Amino acid sequence: APILCVVGARPNYMKMAPIIRAFAVQHPRLPTLLVHTGQHYDAAMNDRLFADLDLPAPDVNLGVGSASHAVQTAEVMKRFEPIIDQHGARAVLVVGDVNSTLACALVAAKRDIPVIHVEAGLRSYDRRMPEEINRVLTDQLADLLYTTERSAHDNLAREGLPAERAVFVGNVMIDSLLASLPRAVPPGNLLREAGLDPRIIGDGYGVVTLHRPSNVDRAEVLGPLLEALREVACRLPLILALHPRTRNNLERFGLLGGLDAPGLLVLPPQGYLEMLGLMSRAVMVLTDSGGMQEETTALGVPCLTIRENTERPITVEQGTNTLVGIDPQALLAGVDDILTRGGKRGRVPELWDGRAAERIAAHLAGWLDQHERLS
Ligand code: UD1
Repeated sequence: APILCVVGARPNYMKMAPIIRAFAVQHPRLPTLLVHTGQHYDAAMNDRLFADLDLPAPDVNLGVGSASHAVQTAEVMKRFEPIIDQHGARAVLVVGDVNSTLACALVAAKRDIPVIHVEAGLRSYDRRMPEEINRVLTDQLADLLYTTERSAHDNLAREGLPAERAVFVGNVMIDSLLASLPRAVPPGNLLREAGLDPRIIGDGYGVVTLHRPSNVDRAEVLGPLLEALREVACRLPLILALHPRTRNNLERFGLLGGLDAPGLLVLPPQGYLEMLGLMSRAVMVLTDSGGMQEETTALGVPCLTIRENTERPITVEQGTNTLVGIDPQALLAGVDDILTRGGKRGRVPELWDGRAAERIAAHLAGWLDQHERLS
């Protein structure tokens, strides 16, 4: 039976691509079946990234689409279980912390199929984040927990999970980054394609992404953040890759006009190679994304994270990341520090070396053999 590898939303794809490749190249004994839940479906959020990452087309697409958390999670569960019946499953491997991650882990656990969680043990300790709930529960269900930083092991121990279940392998997202960097799209090309003059960013630019419900679902938070971005854009051109959730909300709040500002360049969600090109040459990145905190640390680019907390503390302790919260004044102060003093310098964390997926494949092959002998 194959290992069912599950992806659902954009940040899953860069984590899964190197894993699928490592299994195929190193371990013919680990055949995989790629299952896409369909949580993300737009071409910009989905198809382009598959192509950029050389991810094979999914073997199965469950087509769940957008809905409330309860409905989305339930739909994934209902549609995933028959896939197990049809194809069998030696194990179910999930990555990250989106609704699809938890839904498939829960189905597998109830069917007594080994659950493998990649990027386990990260905690923001903020249960208002839907991803935090997904992380805590997925880790409780998992038989094998692959981690990206050592602090994850303390978090897991605190929740009563046996130490031997967790294995520190490094960061598969950085595998994708290092493998793809040579193919990154230069930002100038991108602007030209969007009909903009690349000279606008000739003296440097910043990159912005915002999509966390806590930042974009309420007008009283999103409004002032947009105002702060407009102010920054007067000092440094900002390229804003706009998530559909954020665009929908701006429209709902009557704030779309606020995007029309000098120095603010608004683009649709970008492909992976475009985003890498943008980040790698940026003066700074302003974001509420989880993955971009790690990518900027790997690239050595200063990052201001527009959140009160992070589940990826190593990016702050060792990397280039600074938490500025959602107060516009703190954001402006952070920007000023980067523009006048160059911002934070960091180092690349342990085992963020491009070989995490190889380590997972090597370990998993042995683990499965042993697990199956014992059960
Ligand atoms: C999800 C993940 C989040 C991740 C983010 C990356 C959860 C709980 N959240 O949040 O961790 O950082 O993906 O993007 O799983 N939409 C489209 N087209 C799409 C997908 C979404 O237009 O292809 C719109 C829909 O209006 C939808 C909204 O965006 O209601 C939110 O999408 P959803 O997948 O529910 O959550 P994200 O905010 O994308």
